[in-house]
Amino acid sequence: MRSPNIATDADLYEIENLAADPDRTVERTMQRIAPWSGKVVIDVGAGTGFHLDRFHDAAAHVIAVEPDPALRIRMMRRITDNRLERTSVIGAIAVDIPLRDHCVDIVHSRFAYFFGPGCEPGIAELKRIVRPGGAAFIIDNDLRSGTFASWIHAGYPDRPLDHDEIESFWTDQGFTITRLESSWSFDNRDDLEWVVHLEFPADKAARFVADHPSNEIEYNLLLIHRTFAPLIGSPLDTSLTTTAGTRQVVSGPGARRISITETQCANSSSSISVGTRSARIPRIEKGADPW
Ligand SMILES: C[S@@+](CC[C@H](N)C(=O)[O-])C[C@H]1O[C@@H](n2cnc3c(N)ncnc32)[C@H](O)[C@@H]1O
Repeated sequence: MRSPNIATDADLYEIENLAADPDRTVERTMQRIAPWSGKVVIDVGAGTGFHLDRFHDAAAHVIAVEPDPALRIRMMRRITDNRLERTSVIGAIAVDIPLRDHCVDIVHSRFAYFFGPGCEPGIAELKRIVRPGGAAFIIDNDLRSGTFASWIHAGYPDRPLDHDEIESFWTDQGFTITRLESSWSFDNRDDLEWVVHLEFPADKAARFVADHPSNEIEYNLLLIHRTFAPLIGSPLDTSLTTTAGTRQVVSGPGARRISITETQCANSSSSISVGTRSARIPRIEKGADPW
């Protein structure tokens, strides 16, 4: 569970995050697939919360899930410093998120190596918490192309990756893989050197840096995403007030008997206790801050 990079040196990982994807290709592509304005966004494996403010500006609410207590403390400091008022923090792991069924619209999980072949229980948990019509995004490195990918292969030769197997796993689970060309862009050589040393064994890192005079490094990404089917015959509306667990016949073309569960969270009221497993999600209405 402990992340070797961010848990070893969170300050340095902050520099890595600042250098990564300077054009925000990830957010721009996500926005085209599933905009989060007025939606509830969850960041699973949020680390120190680096990406929270990117969603907070437009989202109705942002929920950050992070199991490492030390990282959570840093995240809470960031949330306070940046006045991210519509944010909640939960100490939990991806397979066991203490939220009611179908309470969030958008899942974001970046460099979440816990999502990969064999993570079916984590995917099941995502499906459970996402509303019909919602979307999940998992962001990982594209290790088929670019300088960073070549460094991974050279730096960790004892950990060969079967790209076909990894990608088939995701497509078999109903996800689409979008390849994004991106980069690491460092302000100065020292930052680049430190970050490369954070990610690679010392001897390999020294060689990579010596052989790469530019402060720009190709750092290509995979945006692994899936949109969950909206309720058939029903407008996608997060302000529905159906009682949790009831069954309804939805009229309209293609109507059929379905279980309306996406509104479970719209009928209870409580609060999330930061850092505990006893969270309950309150009433969430479109455009309102329920917290
Ligand atoms: C490489 S860091 C990335 C952090 C953050 N997403 C970012 O981009 O700055 C991976 C994060 O996943 C968290 N993590 C590890 N195992 C996890 C699990 N099973 N469920 C949820 N988060 C997990 C780690 O504690 C760490 O914060």
